[in-house]
Amino acid sequence: MAEVPQTSTEYYKKATSFWNYPEVPYGPALRAMVLPTDVVADIGCGIGIVSRYLAGICQRVIAVDKNDNALKVLKEDLKQLDLENIEVVHAHWPDIQTDDWDVAVAFYHHRFASTSLEIETLLRKTRRCGIIVTQGIRPRSGFYEDLGREFGIIAQPESCVGSCYVRGRLEQAGFSVTCTEIFHDFGQPVDSQAEAVAYVMRQLRLKEHQRQRLDEIVLNYVEYVDGQMVLPIKRYNCMLQFYK
Ligand SMILES: C[S@@+](CC[C@H](N)C(=O)[O-])C[C@H]1O[C@@H](n2cnc3c(N)ncnc32)[C@H](O)[C@@H]1O
Repeated sequence: MAEVPQTSTEYYKKATSFWNYPEVPYGPALRAMVLPTDVVADIGCGIGIVSRYLAGICQRVIAVDKNDNALKVLKEDLKQLDLENIEVVHAHWPDIQTDDWDVAVAFYHHRFASTSLEIETLLRKTRRCGIIVTQGIRPRSGFYEDLGREFGIIAQPESCVGSCYVRGRLEQAGFSVTCTEIFHDFGQPVDSQAEAVAYVMRQLRLKEHQRQRLDEIVLNYVEYVDGQMVLPIKRYNCMLQFYK
């Protein structure tokens, strides 16, 4: 039997590989926007899954994150990969000293571009356009919500105000912006009941005394996708595309 992942990075890599992220669902939008001659900034790159994808379709990627541990994973992975066009930058956006870029990408970077300084920096450093993915308008669904309710965890209030606010600020600054709702099926693949329990314990921060109850019910909350057991995470996100 496959071993249960031990770190968030291992779980995330398993999910991104299973769902072919970011090709699904953002590949068409990225490929339509990014030119082979472009420099692209991936702001809030995490372990660089999107940066690696971008490296295959543009000239150079500036991969930025404030989390040194995530960047260590990216740098370690880059040693094994034949990708020499990713520059890894440890910075707390918008405090950033890099070359300017043609295209800015910020996927699942919470509250990206909501302050004046961020908008000014984006305007100054972006030569052409960009793409931001954040929370959308429809209610979230999946194991976080369903099992969360089961264990009395109160869900965060839903709001699409964040994305509309960012859109407004970008437009005020002179960017032209389109906004598209985009569905992302991004559940966590797990190979056993034990792995499902381990993942949910970690994600919902359940206490040891709740483990037995979780073990009894967790299989009621999984679904199967192409024969793979998955803890569902389904999101209707907001994709903002902005142009100078
Ligand atoms: C949910 S992860 C998304 C990673 C990646 N964009 C992806 O789609 O796989 C969000 C990342 O944004 C980073 N982040 C959040 N605020 C930041 C900031 N002000 N400056 C740089 N990175 C930031 C976090 O450290 C985290 O790695």
